[in-house]
Amino acid sequence: MNKVFYFSATGNSLFVAKRIAAELPGEAESILNYDGEKVEAERIVIVSPVHAFGLPVITAEFLKKLDTEAPVWIVLTYGGAPMGADRAAYDDARSFGLDVRAVFTLRMVNNYTVFVPVPRGAGKGALKKAPARIARITRKIKENAAFEPKAKKGGRRFSEEVRESTKGNAKHYSVTEACVGCGKCARICPAGNITVKDGRPEFGEKCTGCLACYHRCPQKAIRYGKFKFKYRYFCPLVDQQELE
Ligand SMILES: Cc1cc2nc3c(=O)[nH]c(=O)nc-3n(C[C@H](O)[C@H](O)[C@H](O)COP(=O)(O)O)c2cc1C
Repeated sequence: MNKVFYFSATGNSLFVAKRIAAELPGEAESILNYDGEKVEAERIVIVSPVHAFGLPVITAEFLKKLDTEAPVWIVLTYGGAPMGADRAAYDDARSFGLDVRAVFTLRMVNNYTVFVPVPRGAGKGALKKAPARIARITRKIKENAAFEPKAKKGGRRFSEEVRESTKGNAKHYSVTEACVGCGKCARICPAGNITVKDGRPEFGEKCTGCLACYHRCPQKAIRYGKFKFKYRYFCPLVDQQELE
């Protein structure tokens, strides 16, 4: 049996994980459901976004606690500039004791739209090309491809300093009048960092910067800093409810 774990804030990695699971074939599961039990599988595939040229905090913490002897392949979705994230993820996974065989990168749509002015519709080409790219990656995983990604400039290894630095993200969030207190942000935050008090979300000190709340607020009421780039994104190839 093949197992595909995914972390996804805005659906890109979910889409990729579901496709890989269908083609391998295997079983897809959110890393947020992982309970620390030993995983017995023929192969493990982990699909995750790139965050700041490396692994997201949530993915790195999952890899640290993943208990398995199975060979592991990592597939990183990115928005435009993964830099050396593949090599950094490879080295991180090895240092966490995993038998990682290869890391692939796959261009999707950039969801880092709070500092970067991503125009609506940008990245549609990447979504069109994604199925063929996913099929190529899946074939390589089926063939048990093993390679060490080339060292490139700009890869970011996970460290406790990285974990600490994201905690301060919460101070950037604010909520506009459009908020109706539905509590969706609190339900979907993968870090459990949001609580609703008096009908308004409050952001704690555990933010990992994934932007799930920002992009998936049904009222577009969550703001991040003073930035004027207000475009929200969710991968049109999957249903948001699958991440709830
Ligand atoms: C905090 C943050 C940092 C990001 N850093 C990068 C990056 O360094 N390089 C890149 O190409 N994309 C970057 N992205 C874009 C995501 O990797 C990309 O949109 C990904 O496919 C999102 O996957 P998801 O929809 O499964 O969450 C970043 C996104 C976020 C939220």
